[in-house]
Amino acid sequence: MPVPGGTATAHSTVTESPVITTTGLTKVYRSRGREVTALDGVDLHVREGEVYGVVGQSGAGKSTLIRCVNLLERPSSGTVTVNGQDLTALAGRGPRANAGLRKARSHIGMVFQHFNLLSSRTVQANVELPLEILGLSGKERSRKALELLDLVGLADKAKAYPGQLSGGQKQRVGIARALAGDPKVLLSDESTSALDPETTRSILQLLRDLNQQLGLTVLLITHEMDVVKTICDSAALMKGGRVVESGTVSELLATPGSELAAELFPVGGEPSGPDRTVVDVTFHGDAATQPVISQLSRTYNIDISILGAAMDTVAGKQVGRMRIELPGRFEENVVPIGFLREQGLQVEVAPHGETASATVPSPAPADALLKEGAK
Ligand SMILES: Nc1ncnc2c1ncn2[C@@H]1O[C@H](COP(=O)(O)OP(=O)(O)OP(=O)(O)O)[C@@H](O)[C@H]1O
Ligand SMILES: [Mg+2]
Repeated sequence: MPVPGGTATAHSTVTESPVITTTGLTKVYRSRGREVTALDGVDLHVREGEVYGVVGQSGAGKSTLIRCVNLLERPSSGTVTVNGQDLTALAGRGPRANAGLRKARSHIGMVFQHFNLLSSRTVQANVELPLEILGLSGKERSRKALELLDLVGLADKAKAYPGQLSGGQKQRVGIARALAGDPKVLLSDESTSALDPETTRSILQLLRDLNQQLGLTVLLITHEMDVVKTICDSAALMKGGRVVESGTVSELLATPGSELAAELFPVGGEPSGPDRTVVDVTFHGDAATQPVISQLSRTYNIDISILGAAMDTVAGKQVGRMRIELPGRFEENVVPIGFLREQGLQVEVAPHGETASATVPSPAPADALLKEGAK
């Protein structure tokens, strides 16, 4: 459940209505006598108007999941409901999609990593392709394609061929084509993986703009945590065909021990000497970072050092994690730590060993943070 006034509904377009729901989704591939369970009972709930990110290592089942959502891949069991329609029931038994499924699918846009444009067709003709399949007249197709190209910022490239475009421009064409059937849902499988960081940012910005302007729900697969941080309202982590964690970014942050939260907001930093207490503080929307830390310092008259932080502003509120250091051992800091907890913050105290180096393990990113943070 989203927290009222919290960061859960980062985008004004998010509603509580589910747009994509999978229940007990399972996919077993059988090839040459071997069985691979690519999906193992996946329950996914994507709300209307949200950008939902699915992350996980290679082979975790991410692509299989997204291909099952539009029934490009037939699930072995379980159901898929999109826009209130049970696609698994529409699919029927035969290998070919029936008319009902084809119609439902035309309202689900799909964007691919390698764009999948036809090189012999102009940009405009690529965008018109799904409109031809939908049976629109030539005039209507042309009007709609030009409107979509304008929407993705490529109005001047209508007559160009894919070979004359940059990667980012090709992906814009891919997105325009995906929008041809006026979808409510856009699926994206690693749509920015083939692009450089700057182009990635501009494509993500476009997806977010479309999400906001058109109220489009976006389900995207990525292996980059930055993508999740930049545009996702919610995220799920997949492992071995299962969803092992899911929720809004603030829900994940509020979950002690969340692997996704730790990867989204990694903090490092070692204590500056012995007899220090190191505390990781998680902010998930309701408390503001600056006042809490300075209040703590003023109230107890202690110097607080920030060892590391991974913070972001979501919907005008600071979320993330911060590692701070208080002078003195843990026993001397019980009261200030209690103060932090009273502010509604999630507080984890690093194990208080005898020596500084024993208190906190030092992951690689900590070094970089220390170099910046420490004199
Ligand atoms: N058509 C297929 N036939 C047999 N096995 C398959 C098929 N497609 C996928 N698999 C297997 O299913 C598992 C999940 O694959 P999937 O492509 O969904 O992973 P992924 O999370 O998208 O990985 P990546 O990040 O590398 O794209 C893998 O073990 C893969 O080998
Ligand atoms: Mg994949």
